[in-house]
Amino acid sequence: MRSFAGRDILSLKDFERNEFFHLFEIADRLEPIARERRNTDLLAHKTLVTAFYQPSTRTRLAHEAAMHRLGGHVTGFSDAKMTRAGDFYQESIKDTVHMLEYYGDVIVMRHFEQGAPHEAAKWASIPVINGGDGWGEHPTQILTDLYTIQKEMGSVDGKSILAVGDHRMRTMHSLGYALSQFDTEMIILAPEEMSPLPEFLAELDEKGTNYRIVEHIDEVIDEVDVIYMEPVVQPDYTQARQEKQEVYAHTSPNYQVTSEVMKRAKGSSIILHSLPRRDELLPEVDDSKHARYWQEAYNGVVMRMSLLSSVLGVWE
Ligand code: CP
Repeated sequence: MRSFAGRDILSLKDFERNEFFHLFEIADRLEPIARERRNTDLLAHKTLVTAFYQPSTRTRLAHEAAMHRLGGHVTGFSDAKMTRAGDFYQESIKDTVHMLEYYGDVIVMRHFEQGAPHEAAKWASIPVINGGDGWGEHPTQILTDLYTIQKEMGSVDGKSILAVGDHRMRTMHSLGYALSQFDTEMIILAPEEMSPLPEFLAELDEKGTNYRIVEHIDEVIDEVDVIYMEPVVQPDYTQARQEKQEVYAHTSPNYQVTSEVMKRAKGSSIILHSLPRRDELLPEVDDSKHARYWQEAYNGVVMRMSLLSSVLGVWE
């Protein structure tokens, strides 16, 4: 297995199967710390720098929480408007990262431009973790989600995963790449204008991801093990920020999970949603036996503990 120490986590395109299992194993080892709400000193001499050019609740705070649980330090920004990258100067990623690398030992970056964390990694002498880049990828979210499937269902292999929602979305890209390393079927359901791009499907073909595309949720709801959801009422992920809308579009029932839809689902199936949500996943489902998105959110901290300790070289 390639070393994780000092490694950038930019994409799941090049992740190898045993690397997923390595991170799952470390997550299992660290999980009791989060469960018992303890803080340790594993990363006592390390600092995480958060560079968030787009809003985030989970990704930034889960990384920060993970760092605190491991006894490390955190600095950074959650609004680039308050930095020189977001004011008159529009400071470049190169110049910004040349500063940030002196302020800590690992950077997690979210950006509205696809490829921005990759650009940052070119100039940083410390690891860069992609916290979501435009429509590009969201590797740490999908690591969290696959870990959740493994914990909740015993394995990722052998599972049929319905990915419903906007397939231009960065999570869907990371999911498709990651599943090339597992024995799964990915079932794609999206409104036509949010279909996966031909280039992305070509990449899945090349990588050997087993997928098929369906048009209606009723075709597959009674056979899938995992319902993986993304909104179809979305902001534009190439923008730094979009304000609250006066009127929101409604999600068509074909891309919506409700109590009624779940009556037709396999009893053992689970629902994952990286959140935030709009009306594609109704709160009426929250207390059902299928809902695992709160567990997924918890695992978001555990997986970031695994990732941060791995790229900071604790296990080598
Ligand atoms: N799931 C996710 O990426 O959430 P945030 O946008 O709140 O980080």
